[in-house]
Amino acid sequence: MKAIRGATTVERDSPEFIKKAVGELLAEIGRKNNLLSDDIVCAIFSSTSDIRSYYPAKAAREAGFYRCPLFSALEPPIKGSLARCIRVLILAECDSAVHVYMNEAVALRGDIAARFNIAIDGPAGSGKSTVADILAKRFGVLHLDTGAMYRACALKCIRDGVSVNDESAVAAMVENIDLKIEYAGGAQKTVLDGKDVSAGIRRSDVSMAASLVSTYGAVREKMVALQRQFAAENSCILDGRDIGTNVLPDARFKFFLTASPEVRAQRRWKEDYAKGSKEPYRQILEDMKRRDMQDSTRAIAPLKAAADAIVLDTSNMNIDEVVSIMERRIQEKI
Ligand code: DC
Repeated sequence: MKAIRGATTVERDSPEFIKKAVGELLAEIGRKNNLLSDDIVCAIFSSTSDIRSYYPAKAAREAGFYRCPLFSALEPPIKGSLARCIRVLILAECDSAVHVYMNEAVALRGDIAARFNIAIDGPAGSGKSTVADILAKRFGVLHLDTGAMYRACALKCIRDGVSVNDESAVAAMVENIDLKIEYAGGAQKTVLDGKDVSAGIRRSDVSMAASLVSTYGAVREKMVALQRQFAAENSCILDGRDIGTNVLPDARFKFFLTASPEVRAQRRWKEDYAKGSKEPYRQILEDMKRRDMQDSTRAIAPLKAAADAIVLDTSNMNIDEVVSIMERRIQEKI
């Protein structure tokens, strides 16, 4: 179970304004945390003493929260407190807790309300996606695996018979690509043409094709715009190749994970083997080296550590060790 905080302010102490503000706040909390009504255990509201015309809990019931216990309380008048503010604490059965602050309430709890972006870059098999997942859960933020987006572009080419070697055909395809990132129980779902392709994009032919299409300017421009928009709207961890250097050069925290090609290929081989793949280690290592070369020597936004990134060589570390170092470095700065 998670506790999700939210707050908003209303322009006027009137039932219409309160109903609208509470409805919007709850909808946003639901959207950011992917909540279904059955996930919500209870919602506790408080409102500043200048809100007297309507109970926020009643507004919540009207907004569709009638299946869980609701409670409202009036706060004492406190000098200097935000005017006409409604606060909520929601307990819900979910994996992540993304707190939501709207209108004037963004001024509250800067620590958890301020956009909080973490950039994690590194080559394939460096463990960045796994640690990003763990850290995102710990900090209650979303994890965007940006590699999945380039993979979706590659999958679309393969499916539609667009040659990945034909840059202008790929550029034309990507212009109108129907690509969405959704979350279910905190896990990213990559949705291409309305279908969840999270599993299909992991194929090895897609990996190689993704590495190639990601060298094209039009593809990068489109994906980077979507990634920046996502980061502007959500506190999140982005993992990829160019997050700290290009997508979010102002990210509050930047990490670059690396490991020897042999260790990375070994990790990938183990993962794939557990899933039933028979691809030999030698082949994985060879593909990985080719991909490393392609990703780090391309002209636009190559794989590279940002000058201000914390570089961690994870060759001799397990995931728990990597996560605990990163968590410590984040906590020191928060
Ligand atoms: O992280 P991954 O293996 O899923 O990424 C697939 C390909 O996408 C990778 O070879 C390089 C490319 N990529 C990129 O160019 N920029 C990113 N931010 C993420 C991935």
